[in-house]
Amino acid sequence: MRKMSVIIITAFIIFLGGSFLFFVLGQGMFKTNPDQSNNKSISTDEPSLPIPPLLEDKNPDPDKAEFHITAQNATKDFISGVKTETMGYNGDYLGPVIRVRKGEEVRVNVENRLDGEVTTIHWHGLEVDGDADGGPHSGIQPGESWTPEFTIEQPAATLWFHPHPEQNTGRQVYKGLAGLFFIEDEVSDSLDIPKDYGVNDVPLIIQAKRFNDDGSFQYDLGMHDVMNGLQGDTMLVNGVVDPYLEVPKGIMRLRLLNGSNANVYELHFSNNQTFYQIASDGGFLENSIEMNKLILGPAERAEILVDFSNFNDGNTIQLSNQGLEFMKFVVNGESESDYAIPEHLTTIEKIDLDEAVKTREFVFQGMGPMVNINGKQMDMNRIDEFVNLHVTEIWEVSNESGMGMMGGTVHPFHAHGVQFQIIDRDGNPPPPNETGWKDTFLVYPGEKVKAIATFNHSGVFMYHCHILEHEDAGMMGQFKVSEE
Ligand code: C2O
Ligand code: CU
Ligand code: CU
Repeated sequence: MRKMSVIIITAFIIFLGGSFLFFVLGQGMFKTNPDQSNNKSISTDEPSLPIPPLLEDKNPDPDKAEFHITAQNATKDFISGVKTETMGYNGDYLGPVIRVRKGEEVRVNVENRLDGEVTTIHWHGLEVDGDADGGPHSGIQPGESWTPEFTIEQPAATLWFHPHPEQNTGRQVYKGLAGLFFIEDEVSDSLDIPKDYGVNDVPLIIQAKRFNDDGSFQYDLGMHDVMNGLQGDTMLVNGVVDPYLEVPKGIMRLRLLNGSNANVYELHFSNNQTFYQIASDGGFLENSIEMNKLILGPAERAEILVDFSNFNDGNTIQLSNQGLEFMKFVVNGESESDYAIPEHLTTIEKIDLDEAVKTREFVFQGMGPMVNINGKQMDMNRIDEFVNLHVTEIWEVSNESGMGMMGGTVHPFHAHGVQFQIIDRDGNPPPPNETGWKDTFLVYPGEKVKAIATFNHSGVFMYHCHILEHEDAGMMGQFKVSEE
């Protein structure tokens, strides 16, 4: 017993020593959070997986689409019988799926009915001009609305939308504001893959929360959260704890979004089942990629095909994160259609490195409340980078944050209004599932990731760490794209 306490005290002293600088700087600014223990007392009667509804397109013209979204306060039972205060789009938690086609002219009326707080709606991964992008400059006051219009000019993809108000993104997303945004095109039409939404084409929005004993979401940022972002201990899929999904003996297409504030997932099936990634953030990969583990950082998406045809009725397969099971597939019945795993999916024209007119460097630095990019914290009144319209650039993103002291943190880099191709990670070719379009990519401590993109939309855009607590603390900058 005594030996144990010596170990604990020693460990604590080492931890304190390690975070001494943070302690000095952060003292008094943040409440510490004494209880980091897993809240294992939460139990639910296993619910079936809710499928977010497809949002109705109110424009009858097939080349145009019009949607209406309302951000609102609500309550929801995550733990049976206990009401949690939430926010949702058109509902009590998360939002509907917006589905559009390439070439369509889209108009979205976004109404802010939140209680006394500003919000914005940002189309993560969408290539549109800065004034339609929904960053922190496009604040919607409570009671007001905002109606951006844009044309879909990019290939089929699983994108998403979420709020982006200045220094309040983490809290609003945590409370439930997030939804999926699908783009379809000739390629997604022609591929012989499951596309019956909610039946064999199912979205999984994976998030992690911490609950207080009274059932409320815990979002007081303790020291650990300020350092690493709010990493929940209770996983939700489409807004429920421990759901199950009935699947036929056949191939299912799962569209995964890591909608967490800060958690990085290592996803796999309990039986180590093989699956095939067919799309990354910005659309289909050239070829399907066989894997049995998928790393998904905050805001990243992946579409995977999973073959359940070798199971028997009643078999269950668990989806796990690093060994922790959080969702169940229950095999039942025959599949109505017979799909095969396609080998070739689409053609992605590689951007020629020689086309790049400039290389820019972005360095994640600092830690805790001092996190920054290139030594600067976000300032709404400062444009950090000026990019010429229609040019190609190489962006080199490196992670020097917290190095030496805490061993560093992984930071997901994201830029608005553009999709990248990853050139290399520390000089090595990216893994096969990062050879398609990416708008968000993890940068590990000490690593440098090189990516290339062509900037075809004008306006002011953000680049930032997608650990939302880091973003809110200032690990963000602005770039302006304009004619020379
Ligand atoms: Cu998911 Cu600044 O965005
Ligand atoms: Cu974004
Ligand atoms: Cu970060």
